[in-house]
Amino acid sequence: MHREDFPMLNQDIIYLDNGATSLKPQCVIDKIVDYYENYSANAHRGDYDISYKVDLEYENARDLVKDFIGARRKEEIVFTSGSTDSMNLIVNGFFANLLEAGDEILITKMEHASNVMPWFRVAGKTGAIIKYIPLDDQNFVTLDNLKSVVTPKTKVISLAEITNVVGDVRPIKEICEFAHERDIFVVVDGAQSVPHKKTDVVDSDVDFLAFSGHKMLGPTGVGVLYAKYELMDAIEPVNLGGGMNESFDSPEKMVLKEIPTRLEAGTPNIAGVIGLGEAVKYLNNIGMAKIEQREKELRSYLIEKLVKIPHIDILNLESDSGIVTFNVEGLFSEDVAYFLNKYGICVRAGSHCAKLTKDVLGVVNSIRVSLYFYNTESEIDNLVDLLKDKDKIMKEMI
Ligand code: ALA
Repeated sequence: MHREDFPMLNQDIIYLDNGATSLKPQCVIDKIVDYYENYSANAHRGDYDISYKVDLEYENARDLVKDFIGARRKEEIVFTSGSTDSMNLIVNGFFANLLEAGDEILITKMEHASNVMPWFRVAGKTGAIIKYIPLDDQNFVTLDNLKSVVTPKTKVISLAEITNVVGDVRPIKEICEFAHERDIFVVVDGAQSVPHKKTDVVDSDVDFLAFSGHKMLGPTGVGVLYAKYELMDAIEPVNLGGGMNESFDSPEKMVLKEIPTRLEAGTPNIAGVIGLGEAVKYLNNIGMAKIEQREKELRSYLIEKLVKIPHIDILNLESDSGIVTFNVEGLFSEDVAYFLNKYGICVRAGSHCAKLTKDVLGVVNSIRVSLYFYNTESEIDNLVDLLKDKDKIMKEMI
């Protein structure tokens, strides 16, 4: 679907690594080039026409992102360099000031590094305690399992909505409802969910949401932090500098601007933000429901074929997203990825930046296929045909 919009697909490749980054449609590329060619001034600083145009485009992108995730106000949207940056800002700008010794932070062992490492460090500094939500036999989070580890000391639950290794879709709305009855904050890493399904922050009632532009057809180096207005307003800027201050005279006299500007110190990634706005428009034109549906079809098609291959161990048979993770029995995942690459097939292999998963999955490395709406059944056929022939893989993988 819509393959003609993606110049990368003119190459002889089968791109199945959309969890790492998505391809970019021509309109996003054009929008970025247009900025650099025709109005590449700074944002929020100039008193001349092209600078006004930058401000207009930049703030229009903020509006587009706000509507895309159903936020109430544009002050609830801060542009960052990506999900990782957003997660670090949430943890270091908000929770570092809130957590006290003995407070509990709940995560799982299936989280990406950016939803683990900032918490590890803040726990070390504050004396807060990391606790892991037990997972069910499919490695999913259930509300009952979550309830079993919540205590009066629990301050925050931080989860990916869709994990990047097994691709399970977490019941975020139910988790928020349960958490908020107990005054527990909910942080959501939306890197793998926002590009693939409708996000509505008011309906789910999440407190904080982090996501990246480059996984949703936008450029690299740009991401989003969503926080409820009062929470965003309470985030202490981690970066101080140009653009975010009203005045500064002495250490005691620094006056900062209102949100969101206060949290966007320095020259932002203007081309990235404007490009992300264009990506949002593009996704809106297709419709997130249609995108989700198409990925489900592709996933079912792939699973149906993979289960018939005896030497394939699927690690996430029951997940409900476009992420399918597996191993070829007895073979090292990177060797299989190297073999597939010889045939132009791009997949990710290894631990996928989620190094605690080995405790749960029992394997350190795996091969991950991550689908997007522009993939096709015939691409999947090509992949499956190659995976079927284990002798050929073994012969050609080195
Ligand atoms: N977080 C990205 C992935 O899962 C890079 O591949």
